[in-house]
Amino acid sequence: MKMLMEIVHLLKTLMVMAMGTVVLLSLLTFAGIFMVGCGPKGNKPNIEIIQDMMEQPALKAQDFHPYDREKSSMLVPPAGSWPKNVKPYMYRGKPVEAGESLKNPLAGSTDVEVMQLGERNYKNFCLLCHGAGGAGDGQVAPKFIGIKPPSLLTDKIRNYPDGRIFHIITDGQGLMGTYIHQLPDEKGRWAVVNYVRKLQKK
Ligand code: HEC
Repeated sequence: MKMLMEIVHLLKTLMVMAMGTVVLLSLLTFAGIFMVGCGPKGNKPNIEIIQDMMEQPALKAQDFHPYDREKSSMLVPPAGSWPKNVKPYMYRGKPVEAGESLKNPLAGSTDVEVMQLGERNYKNFCLLCHGAGGAGDGQVAPKFIGIKPPSLLTDKIRNYPDGRIFHIITDGQGLMGTYIHQLPDEKGRWAVVNYVRKLQKK
């Protein structure tokens, strides 16, 4: 019986020692890992233990191009390519041709949805410069030096075919940039043309 007790006691002591060793070893390992990061040369890169996320084919933003160290990894799309949701526009730099060839599919539409779309788009993207009534008196117009956002109520714009105004929204004109990115949907741009016509009638 006494023998048995002694064996149990011995086993207990062994277990406590084993657990102690495990704890000690873990502490040493962690301390080791942390200390690898420290040292006199603080500007050395870290040691990456799990590298899966570091080594990947995707280029990082603001990195260099893999084949051309002079270039940024943020590549410009090749010339002539178009975003997926945008229909290629065939009249770039050709305002007169656009005016002659492009027909307004929404011409004279009294559809409430189209009218609301045109108004919303105009107020979001044009009002700022051309003004709520189209008179060229938008909030930022005074900030323009030299060429100012012109009135859209002039005889010149009244006599432009719808396609010409559509073209200016799509391709820009002089100082005014393209609005194709804000209004990628053709319908949204034609609806703006209709809204400009509505302003001209007021
Ligand atoms: C950031 C200011 C700005 C915004 C926003 C803007 N435009 Fe313009 N727009 C101009 C300026 C400036 C011109 C004159 C550009 C030039 O000829 O150099 C112009 C010219 C035009 C012209 C031709 C006027 C003319 O007499 O030749 C039309 C039409 C026009 N804009 C319509 C629009 C429509 C429609 C929108 C909204 C989709 C819009 N613009 C948004 C600044 C703006």
